[in-house]
Amino acid sequence: MAAAEKQPVTGAGPFNGLLTWIDQRFPLMSLWREHLAEYYAPKNFNFWYYFGSLAILVLVLQIATGIFLAMHYKPDANLAFASVEYIMRDVPGGWIVRYMHSTGASAFFIVVYLHMFRGLMYGSYRKPRELVWIVGALVYLSLMAEAFFGYLLPWGQLSYWGAQVIVNLFDAIPLIGPGLALWIRGDYVISDATLNRFFSFHVIAIPLVLLGLVAAHIMALHEVGSNNPDGVEIKKHKDPKTGHPVDGIPFHPYYTVKDILGAVVFLIVFAVIMFFIPEFGGYFLEYNNFVAADSLKTPDEIYPVWYFTPFYSMLRATTENFMWVLAAALVGLVALILWRIRSLTAKTVIAGIGMLLLLGFFTIEPKVWGVVLMGAAVLIYFFLPWLDKSPVRSIRYKGPLYKSALAVFAICFVILGYFGTRPLTDVGTIVSQVGTLLYFAFFALMPWYSKIDRCKPEPERLT
Ligand code: HEM
Repeated sequence: MAAAEKQPVTGAGPFNGLLTWIDQRFPLMSLWREHLAEYYAPKNFNFWYYFGSLAILVLVLQIATGIFLAMHYKPDANLAFASVEYIMRDVPGGWIVRYMHSTGASAFFIVVYLHMFRGLMYGSYRKPRELVWIVGALVYLSLMAEAFFGYLLPWGQLSYWGAQVIVNLFDAIPLIGPGLALWIRGDYVISDATLNRFFSFHVIAIPLVLLGLVAAHIMALHEVGSNNPDGVEIKKHKDPKTGHPVDGIPFHPYYTVKDILGAVVFLIVFAVIMFFIPEFGGYFLEYNNFVAADSLKTPDEIYPVWYFTPFYSMLRATTENFMWVLAAALVGLVALILWRIRSLTAKTVIAGIGMLLLLGFFTIEPKVWGVVLMGAAVLIYFFLPWLDKSPVRSIRYKGPLYKSALAVFAICFVILGYFGTRPLTDVGTIVSQVGTLLYFAFFALMPWYSKIDRCKPEPERLT
């Protein structure tokens, strides 16, 4: 619409004039209407729908506190550790900014894990929200990269040795591994060169990617509309007069108010942790990281921060013996796929891939397969929209098979996470191996159990 044709803004009191002036030069009111005042969201959002807006809140918090930390932090192997101590002891308010940032990192993962779990419960990844989910999975990958790069910066013992272990994993990749690891480090060991590049990735490259992806995530969501705890499409029933979904309510003011309540409760819990238990028993800030990095002294135990430990457990679970179990599981899965699909070409391709993998299991060392499993555990989320064959979306109407599978999956994730923070024991290894198998079974067997499950009929309208 041409600038002069736009209606003047009303209802903003003394700001009407200013807003009209802006609106004639920038699509302010149409953005406001499209994404807030006239974005119709299902009226039955529950507790689980707090975590999307909380993730935005934490993202903003991390960027804001990060800017202030970067003013005093020195990305230099000789100065980094001392500069963090300086922030904690001498910079006015430095300690609170640092604790906000370190607590924020863990809070980010807690919020995002709960946000993803909501998606798994209500089938939010299903058509037409596949792209919302896929962009979300890209956000998750970027978040992991952001956390990994950031963890090296305090240059404590675990920063140093954790990075050493993770980058060395790339070394295990056949052919390109050693070159790749060298390229990532910029040196033969973790060094000043590594610290400099990790700093630049942590403060600018990945945050830019994250911001872009989050914007794309919300644009994709607003294109198709939000799902809800019933998994029912509200766009199917529109008011003939207004054209708005009858089961929808405008996001603003109804859900802005709801989300502010969530933010207040979240910030209270956040403040309690930040002021009273910022280390959170060594889970949010690890004790060994209050010791400066020493390349000549390997710590007794090296393990990553809690949000990476489920995947770390999978790595440690991949022993020589476990390769036999993996081989048996692979044979079983391939047999199941061959039995279910009809196309001869597809059968040949699947059988070929299966044979190649089987050959690789016994010729390439288990450590490499541990790395592959870790990668696969994250990448598998991208395929979820096409694995779920259930006739209904939400867990409210899914049958006992999906309900049990999701419960087992969530429990395995927590157990794997727990054992990843503990020293290696025989029992821990066996539990991690069972957990790894069940984690992958949740995805790999989904096309079957979601199809044969006894689902309840989905209602026409929201309940
Ligand atoms: C920085 C991280 C993230 C931010 C800021 C973010 C933000 C949001 C927001 C604001 C919403 C709408 C409100 C809501 O439904 O709660 C949303 C919805 C959604 N997000 Fe995320 N998200 C993030 C990460 C993820 C990840 C990692 C995934 C999955 C892999 C994901 C999947 C989804 C899905 C499927 C929806 C639609 C849910 C529905 O309509 O039921 N998001 N996200």
